Amino acid sequence: MNVFDEIATHYDEDLFHQVVAEKLISGLADAPCPRLVLDVATGTGAAAFAAVQHLGARRVVGVDLSAGMISRARAKSAVQDPESRITWTVAPAVPAPVPDASVDLVLCASSLHFLGGAALRDWQRVLRPGGNIAFTLPMASSFRPTGEFASLVAADLPLPRDADEAAAVAAGFRDATAHRLDAPDGKVVFLVYASV
Ligand SMILES: C[S@@+](CC[C@H](N)C(=O)[O-])C[C@H]1O[C@@H](n2cnc3c(N)ncnc32)[C@H](O)[C@@H]1O
Repeated sequence: MNVFDEIATHYDEDLFHQVVAEKLISGLADAPCPRLVLDVATGTGAAAFAAVQHLGARRVVGVDLSAGMISRARAKSAVQDPESRITWTVAPAVPAPVPDASVDLVLCASSLHFLGGAALRDWQRVLRPGGNIAFTLPMASSFRPTGEFASLVAADLPLPRDADEAAAVAAGFRDATAHRLDAPDGKVVFLVYASV
């Protein structure tokens, strides 16, 4: 059992995760309806469900290393994904379990800081030409992971201090933009969008 398995049962009680995922998806409202979405480190599926419900995604692959988190996502599927458009997969995020050049949209909410630069490089592989990425990163000064979570943070991806630095994380992609999202408790997250 990993540390995310241990928190899976109560994970959805922190509503901020849901807010971040919903905000991330709302920034994609003008994008074409995606045929295949990859939700990287999907957790309990907030971004995957939002992609189905708000973007009309036809198929979503939600991948996460934690069987406990995926189990929670599956439990919500009957209500939140009644057409079973989402496939849940327990697996490492990198390499993502999808073929090269097959994905229209990569999502990664509240997770890229655990995955590091290898995930960004893998997204270049999986995306179709013209495909999009949307991810979030916490602002460096507001991120205080403790215990085992701190040891899981990727060393090769410095957290952004501002929106410009957040957009620069997507330097290998085109048209990167970043927007700041402030939580009432002082947490700050950047929502980053780009395409290949
Ligand atoms: C803070 S949660 C975010 C979950 C979800 N995306 C959300 O928005 O609520 C981070 C997730 O990253 C997953 N994770 C961390 N490292 C991973 C890896 N190497 N491969 C796959 N999933 C990973 C954890 O299991 C956990 O579910």
